[in-house]
Amino acid sequence: MYNDNPTLNIQTTNKTIDENKQGEVFFQDKSVDDADKKRFYIESYGCQMNFSDSEIVASILAETGYVSTRNMEESDLILINTCSIREKAEDTVRKRLRVFDKVKSNRPGTLVGVLGCMAERLKKKFLEEEQLVDMVVGPDAYRDLPNLIAGADDGERTVNVLLSREETYADINPIRLLSNGVTAFISIMRGCDNMCSFCVVPFTRGRERSRDAYSIVAEASNLYDKGFREVTLLGQNVDSYKWSAPDESESVNFAQLLERVALVHPDLRVRFSTSHPKDITDEVLHTIAKYENICNYIHLPVQSGNSRVLKLMNRTYDRAWYKERVQAIYRIIPDCAISSDVITGFCSETEEEHQDTLSMLEYANYSMSYMFFYSERPGTLAARKYEDDIPLEVKKRRLSEVIRLQNQISFKHNQTDIGKTFKVLIEGDSKKSDQEFKGRNSQNKMLVFPKKEGLKPGDYVEVKVLEATSATLRGELVD
Ligand code: SAH
Ligand code: SF4
Ligand code: F3S
Repeated sequence: MYNDNPTLNIQTTNKTIDENKQGEVFFQDKSVDDADKKRFYIESYGCQMNFSDSEIVASILAETGYVSTRNMEESDLILINTCSIREKAEDTVRKRLRVFDKVKSNRPGTLVGVLGCMAERLKKKFLEEEQLVDMVVGPDAYRDLPNLIAGADDGERTVNVLLSREETYADINPIRLLSNGVTAFISIMRGCDNMCSFCVVPFTRGRERSRDAYSIVAEASNLYDKGFREVTLLGQNVDSYKWSAPDESESVNFAQLLERVALVHPDLRVRFSTSHPKDITDEVLHTIAKYENICNYIHLPVQSGNSRVLKLMNRTYDRAWYKERVQAIYRIIPDCAISSDVITGFCSETEEEHQDTLSMLEYANYSMSYMFFYSERPGTLAARKYEDDIPLEVKKRRLSEVIRLQNQISFKHNQTDIGKTFKVLIEGDSKKSDQEFKGRNSQNKMLVFPKKEGLKPGDYVEVKVLEATSATLRGELVD
């Protein structure tokens, strides 16, 4: 889930207690006790990790006496959790800052804080470029927010962009912001030690570190007890998860962590993202196959289908290696769905090399992909070493070919589900109608089906697929 499109702009603070159909008081933005409290408003962009971080920020702010609001006009503190992955993501943030400027001029005293990857990338420079920003806070500095806010309240413009080798926010109990009460994210690691040449993440998120396995399992159990039925374990490269007890008495790898979380409860579904093709092991695949509640779905970004381009990208696998991993997945987990990320028009990519990406989409038979044209990021290896020499219209044309083909493949993938019955976890009402529920199957496909009395979000049901588009399956409940 990447969100750098203004029309997809998701506010993470739009759930009030009234809207929470399950009636779980998990996130409350107004109550009698809160009347005199300060209010914060937060918007998140970028990957799931950022959304998960916003929940950590909400928890830290709650400790400081803030309550959240979905209305920025009445807030004392406006926060934007930013993404730097592509130029467009940063453009979106700057546009939002113009909107916040207006609110600020109508409500003097309101503070504006920039969090996340763009804060980390631009550091102090942000304050020079954006006159109305009061705070710049990097992803490892959220515990310092109360101090930074106090400083800003005193009229200082504050910055903390220190990256840490240890911070995992393990002890912080996130406040679930955009919660449907059924599915939640759990960060299991932070940072990234891979140096994919196109990618800004190692610079904005720092060194890779894994979170205490016990705190992860405890968070999953706690979510289960609160009624949640699905957790997604998050990391930039979950397969390199490795946690050792401080006294070195035990060490836990990703396959072992998956197993521990799966054992929390058979009715708690486990998902994870993102897997790196160079690191995903057969041990992980066998663990997925062994537990029914570990979903049969792997997000395995290929980036390019061509070995020379992959080498330039510093992905450290080649086409043959990737194909072998795809075969291993389908061999060990026959009904597994695989999805991908693709970049078109990377430095010096030829038409033939682009064709290799297209043929890889067919080979891997992805259920879906996130597709982008290459956007040079300052400071990355590619920006320093290679020329960004593919014209924009060529990048875009190649992207449209990738999208067109992926749509055909997704459509076919979904058509083969017609007539099959899947176990679906109900997440809530469908987008179009409150007469219908939506929910996902193990393969992460969204199914929409007419409601039946007595069923509610968080229930598992069997749904038979009757129709399919490239995006959604429609079906009916079976007993
Ligand atoms: N850790 C994940 C990806 C995180 S970034 C992984 O290794 O797969 C999410 C996706 O954004 C990447 O998979 C890549 O496809 C895309 N991306 C990253 N940098 C990009 C850039 N400079 N231009 C275009 N797309 C980019
Ligand atoms: Fe970026 Fe590569 Fe790390 Fe993913 S694995 S976050 S693409 S450097
Ligand atoms: Fe964006 Fe940072 Fe995530 S750059 S994709 S928000 S790790």
